[in-house]
Amino acid sequence: MARKISFLNYKGGVGKTSLIVNLASCLALSGKRVLLCDLDTQSNASIWLLRLDRWNGINSSGEGAVYSIFNPGNATLADCLVRDVVQDKNGEKVIPGLDLIPTTFNLVDLESDLESGNPNQPPYSIFHEQLAELEDDYDFILFDCPPNILRASQCGVYSSNEIYVPANPDALSLVGFTLLVEKLQKFHRASASFRRSGMGVPAEIRGIIFNSIKGNVDIEVPKIRMQLRLNQFRSQKKVSAQAKIFNAQVRDANIVRRAVTLGLPVVLVGDHRHEGESVVTDYNHVADELVQHEPT
Ligand SMILES: Nc1ncnc2c1ncn2[C@@H]1O[C@H](COP(=O)(O)OP(=O)(O)OP(=O)(O)O)[C@@H](O)[C@H]1O
Ligand SMILES: [Mg+2]
Repeated sequence: MARKISFLNYKGGVGKTSLIVNLASCLALSGKRVLLCDLDTQSNASIWLLRLDRWNGINSSGEGAVYSIFNPGNATLADCLVRDVVQDKNGEKVIPGLDLIPTTFNLVDLESDLESGNPNQPPYSIFHEQLAELEDDYDFILFDCPPNILRASQCGVYSSNEIYVPANPDALSLVGFTLLVEKLQKFHRASASFRRSGMGVPAEIRGIIFNSIKGNVDIEVPKIRMQLRLNQFRSQKKVSAQAKIFNAQVRDANIVRRAVTLGLPVVLVGDHRHEGESVVTDYNHVADELVQHEPT
């Protein structure tokens, strides 16, 4: 059965998309079958992996983007699937086993236009029903969410059993984490009546992953503060009993920013062996820790 995981923090810009794109690539290159669902209307993961020319085609037609499943009688998630999404300059598929459900800018309309929708089936339930058809094909289904739990994000959270919280070593990431815990509880209460047997546990926060760590910065104090907050939430049973700060963390490296422009995960950027060798090692360590942190 696929592990279904949302990457979420109420603080924006902490590295959710960068982590998910690079972890998905590491997992696929290690032989896992991975589906990345982009649920952020900014479309950063989709543009990164498809590159602008392919993504523009979807954005202008609206066909093949996740929003199309919410229009009655239209597409299914299976119709949106881009298999082996990562291509090199020659169009060769270079990461077999990494598939994408892309989004486009129109996903923002999901937040406002469903007054006429079926009140007995919220968008997250439609999404979940369609995702179930694809699940058996994957080891990991990863949801890139915006920094909130509004309708688009709810699709990922409702379908997930696990949540990981990317964080920077600063006070605002801690605030974002705290707000996430509160909003997650509210969403679980609101969606409880729609849950069916066989869905597994409602998404639980199982880990914090520190990202963009600068070499000359001591992160012990922000780490201790995060650990104390995590302990508090664990004792209140608001996060998983196994929730932890990951031992592996990702350093700050220019190559991460450059990889976006090149439309490649860092591991495929030609010169990663020089500047980025260590950040690729970081992503691989986080991916290994994620694999080992499977819920029991
Ligand atoms: N390890 C890293 N080293 C250097 N830059 C990084 C690293 N991780 C992320 N970044 C940069 O930080 C910025 C924010 O990253 P990213 O878009 O992944 O965050 P996000 O949490 O997905 O943001 P949003 O909340 O807008 O979705 C980007 O410019 C990205 O290139
Ligand atoms: Mg993002």
